[in-house]
This record gives sequence, C-alpha cells and structure tokens, in this order.
Amino acid sequence: MATRRSWAEPWKIKMVEPLRMTTRAEREAAIAEAGFNTFLLPSRLVYIDLLTDSGTSAMSDRQWAGLMLGDEAYAGSDNFYHLEAMVRKYYGYKHLIPTHQGRGAEHLLSTICIRPGQYVPGNMYFTTTKAHQERVGGKFVDVIIDEAHDSTSDHPFKGNCDLAKLEKLIERVGANNIAYLSLEGTVNMAGGQPCSLANIRETCALCHRYGIKVFLDATRAVENAYFIKLREPGQAGKTIAQILREICDCTDGCTMSAKKDSLVNIGGFLAVNDDKIAEAARNLCVLFEGLHTYGGLAGRDMEAMAVGIEESVQYDHMHARIGQVEYLGRKLIEGGVPIVRPIGGHGVFIDAGKFLPHLPRDRFPAQALAAALYVDSGVRAMERGAVSAGRDKETGAHLFPKLELVRLTIPRRVYTQAHMDVTAESVIELFQHHRKIAGLRFTYEPEFLRFFQARFEPVGGQSILND
Ligand code: F0G
Repeated sequence: MATRRSWAEPWKIKMVEPLRMTTRAEREAAIAEAGFNTFLLPSRLVYIDLLTDSGTSAMSDRQWAGLMLGDEAYAGSDNFYHLEAMVRKYYGYKHLIPTHQGRGAEHLLSTICIRPGQYVPGNMYFTTTKAHQERVGGKFVDVIIDEAHDSTSDHPFKGNCDLAKLEKLIERVGANNIAYLSLEGTVNMAGGQPCSLANIRETCALCHRYGIKVFLDATRAVENAYFIKLREPGQAGKTIAQILREICDCTDGCTMSAKKDSLVNIGGFLAVNDDKIAEAARNLCVLFEGLHTYGGLAGRDMEAMAVGIEESVQYDHMHARIGQVEYLGRKLIEGGVPIVRPIGGHGVFIDAGKFLPHLPRDRFPAQALAAALYVDSGVRAMERGAVSAGRDKETGAHLFPKLELVRLTIPRRVYTQAHMDVTAESVIELFQHHRKIAGLRFTYEPEFLRFFQARFEPVGGQSILND
C-alpha cells in the first residue's frame, strides 16, 4: 500500500497577531464604503488578507534580531555593506543602489535608460514597471509567448519570451530604438508563471547580439529559480542559489522589490553591472530616494533585507511557500473553479471571466468577484484584469487584456493550511452561486494606476452579492 508522506513548514510560530472576525452586515457596509474596491478596505475589517504578497511576509527571528543591529548612520551604514555583499553573492551584480521599494528602482532605471519614443519590450507588463516606462516616453511592447494569455494552457514556462516576436520588433523599429528588454522572473500578471533558464539564455543572447541590454525584474526571481529546479530538464541537481545566479548572470542588472522574495516589509534595489548606469543611478538616487548608501531605507531595513535574501534561497523555505500556494490551487481545482494553470508561484489566479460568464468585460467581473468574496468570508483578494490594465494612452478606451483575473495572493510564512481551507470553501461556494454576483461600473477613476483608488457601484441594485 502506498503511504502518503506529508510535508510541513520549516518553522514554528513564536508570536501571533490576532485577527478580527466580522459579520456579513459589517462587511456589506465596509465594501460599499470602500467603493467596491478591496484596496480601500481598512485592514482591521479583513479576516484573511490575500490582497498581495508584497511587504506582507512574516520576518524570521533572525531578521527581527537584525533590526536591532541597525546602523542608522546617514552615510556608509554597516547594513548597506552587508546588503551589498548579499546582493553580490546571490544576485551577482557589481553595483547596488538601494531604493525604498521596487518602483523606486524602476523610476531610476527608466529615467536613465529610456529616451522618449523608444520601445521597451517585456514578457508581459507589470503595472508600476510600465507606468514608469511610459512616464519617461517609452512604449511597452509585450513579447511573452501566446500561451501566457491562455488561462487553460499547461505550459510549464508561460513566462517565456517569444523570440520571434522579439526579433520582429527589433527588425521593425531597429535596435537603436529599443531602450532595453524588461525581463520579469515569475510573471505576476500571467498568474505567477516562470521562465525557463533556456529561454532566459536565448532571449539575453538575442538581445546582446543586437547590443540591447536586458534588465531583470528580480522581484520573484528566487521563486522562478525554484520552478526551474522543479520543472526544467537537467536542472534538478542545482541549488536554488546556483540557478538564481545563472539567471542573473545572463542579464545586465535588475530592479528588485525586496517586499516579495526577500521576506521584508519594505525595501528594494537597483543592481547593475555597467559603471556609467550605476553612476547616473547614484546621482538620481540622492534626488529621489536618499543617499546612495540607504536609498530611502533605515539601516535596520537593509539588515532585515540582507538576512531575508539568504533565507529566501533555502530549498525548504521555497518548497513550503510554493507548496502552500499549490495546496490552495488544488482545492479550487477539485471544486471545479476555473483558475490559471499551472498553479502560480505567489498566488492562485481565478479566471473571473469564466467564473462569472453572465457579466460582460465592461462590468468588470474580476473587480466584482473580489468584492463578493470579501462580503462572503472576509477574504481580501485583488483584481488583475481590465481595471488594472487601464486605458489606451492614445484612444482613451478601456484596455481589455485577455486575462480577467482575481488574485488570491499568499503572503510568505503568514497563514496556515486552515486559512487556505476557509478561503477555498468560500470561493467554491460563490462559484456554485455565481449568478448572485452583480457587475460594477466606475463612479471615480483616477488618472494613474487606477486600480488602487478607483470607486465603483453595483449595476442594477445596492448589493454586490444578492441572495
Ligand atoms: N515588479 C513586480 C513584478 C511586482 O510584482 C511589483 C509589485 C513591482 C515590480 C513593484 O514593486 O511594490 O515594491 O514598488 N507588486 C505588488 C503586487 C504591488 O501586489 O503584486 P513595489
């Protein structure tokens, strides 16, 4: 008889943070007050917070101990040198410029490396990354493989770049008109889907042949390295740290939101090999972030990041982290819920278009489902569809990306399997009664990154979930 051997997290709980339970009536009132946008809910009214994996991880006792070693000198903090050593060891780039978070690094890189009118190809857009590229006059071009836009495709590396699309763009506009290639490890908007090492190598080789630099969005590159170890032929024998270095070694630098892989609540960095870009970045850093040895962070934040980087590449950590996401995903699949396949690295992405087939795209099914899920169980998720995509810069029309998703994002080392069970049960029950969920229309639409602050109202009634 085959026996099933379970695995468990490689940590135990030392301190707990009590959660507040709410009633359905309280949640109905709260979501209406929040304009049916889960970003506008106060967190004290949220039971299980799956809005994002960004800055929401639990730090280890070693990271907390690191906070006490904060050297809060204005210049040349000890913690900067520790962080620099860790970034060089695990990511391998020559120069480190710390920033307050990922978009701080995107701001520096975009400003330095994009001339107005230049193209910036990438394996699917990310909201802040693209916004910074466009702010300085760049034009984002999606060169991800087609499978990434298909929630049912089981391709093991849906984050891969399509070399034919990339080469066609280079031939059409000329290498001089391409600022750089923006390569995201574990593509967030595709559902947390990784790139293969082979594809990263080929993509970088193609760009470098044309003299085009490649900058990695390393936000979840460690999770990408884990998937390579798991799925790519010939890679199983390497450590996650070795694979991470091989990814980074192909590229010319990275922007990093350390709030994800690196297990900290705040922080990020730009890391590059090119001396001139580094010098320009240090100059701009002083203007926007702070001196180049702290970049908007306290010394203690940099220490927690340095320790977190080392913890993030441990196999047992990553196995439990991705394993928990997989656990939730499998429960939803068993319940018949349409989710993006394969199950992603940092969350489970529900295909809201399929979940709510009665709602047209301009009734924002993903936004509606996230609001309804909160009302049902106090679980907070996030829309990743048309609201996130925004409007076409030229025509002003809504962009309707192929994927209309709700993201159940799992913070690292925070929730238990029982929290995943509660979440799955709520989603499955909503799926069985999906016709009760109403569509939404805008009542307020901000100019930039509208998903953060937009407000909505249900169409045809007061309530989002009509019993
Ligand atoms: N790149 C990727 C792939 C991200 O997922 C994020 C943030 C950033 C860059 C920007 O980093 O937030 O530190 O400024 N993603 C968060 C999320 C907001 O919820 O997915 P940041």
